[in-house]
Amino acid sequence: MTKPRVLSGIQPTADSFHLGNYLGAVKQWVALQDSHDAFYCVVDLHAITMRHEPELLRRRTRIAAAQLLGAGLDPDRCTLFVQSHVPEHAELQWVLSCITGFGEASRMTQFKDKSAKGGADASSVGLFTYPILQAADILLYEANQVPVGEDQRQHLELTRDLGQRFNHRFGATFVLPEAYIPPAAARIADLQDPAIKMSKSTSSPQGIIDLLDEPGRIRKKIARAVTDPGSEVRADEAAKPGVTNLLRIYSALTGEPISALENKYGSGGYGAFKKDVAEAVVATFTPIREKTEKVLADEAYLDQVLASGAGRAGEVARRTMDTVRDRVGFVPRMDRGDR
Ligand code: TYM
Repeated sequence: MTKPRVLSGIQPTADSFHLGNYLGAVKQWVALQDSHDAFYCVVDLHAITMRHEPELLRRRTRIAAAQLLGAGLDPDRCTLFVQSHVPEHAELQWVLSCITGFGEASRMTQFKDKSAKGGADASSVGLFTYPILQAADILLYEANQVPVGEDQRQHLELTRDLGQRFNHRFGATFVLPEAYIPPAAARIADLQDPAIKMSKSTSSPQGIIDLLDEPGRIRKKIARAVTDPGSEVRADEAAKPGVTNLLRIYSALTGEPISALENKYGSGGYGAFKKDVAEAVVATFTPIREKTEKVLADEAYLDQVLASGAGRAGEVARRTMDTVRDRVGFVPRMDRGDR
């Protein structure tokens, strides 16, 4: 029996992933490797939609791939690759952008948020069409499921709409994917401001825990995390957003249900609870950081993993693009053996 396919991507826009990336996405990626035919990419094309430094991008792309291996992706059980190594992503994006309405693209809230910050002139056309590139990433691989955090839900809906529209106009071609969003860790909040999500672009350094943070920093940040009036450890989004966020983090890391944690800590105050949350984060992140450092020290190994991933991903992507070119009505290029 063939396994269902998953695809997901992560941007190499910081020196480290953060706890939200880990719990919302990467932890799921690792868990799905055996039950699914898994494709995961470091989306460097997406990372140039905002102003960037070329050398920094190159370094961060390698760090991103190393962290994914450090977190437990196994190149023998999944396909890990860099988006720009497979040119079909950009090619399919063009075709899809020609069936995307301007108004439809304008409604994407991430674009609205990001462009509001920099003003219309600071926002590139690439930032505007970013979700269409994401749709291309997913549709190229005929993914059944896409493990992501809550903030990507709207992009997934656009992906389904575009896949369906293409199928309707040109004949059945694409599989329509489902979002795979972990209920408890769908939106990890900023530690200093639980009203906003933990995010590399908006969180203060104290509000965000990096995957590569040293244990001392992790402990300090959690000890200083904003909690709420009172002393009861109880999940209550409206009255206790800070404590609720910490409960979600602890539960997602340890697998202990939130109700069991509420019983365990009760009204004993926040001190002991925060200490245990910090130790759970440290226990998860320390081996990941150590493995990431090992992988980064062996550049030849990392390059070979990414080359073989690009080879496998490229095969699937080329097959899909051959079909797409044919359906759209492009003349086949005979010297290449196109259909
Ligand atoms: P990116 O790089 O911003 O984030 C990577 C993943 O981390 C999740 N995430 C969170 N989950 C829970 N709580 C948070 N605070 C939090 N912050 C981030 C994101 O939901 C995401 O799953 N557009 C995508 C990258 C992308 C992609 C794709 C994803 C490009 N092509 C194809 C899936 C499929 C993005 O910018 O993710």
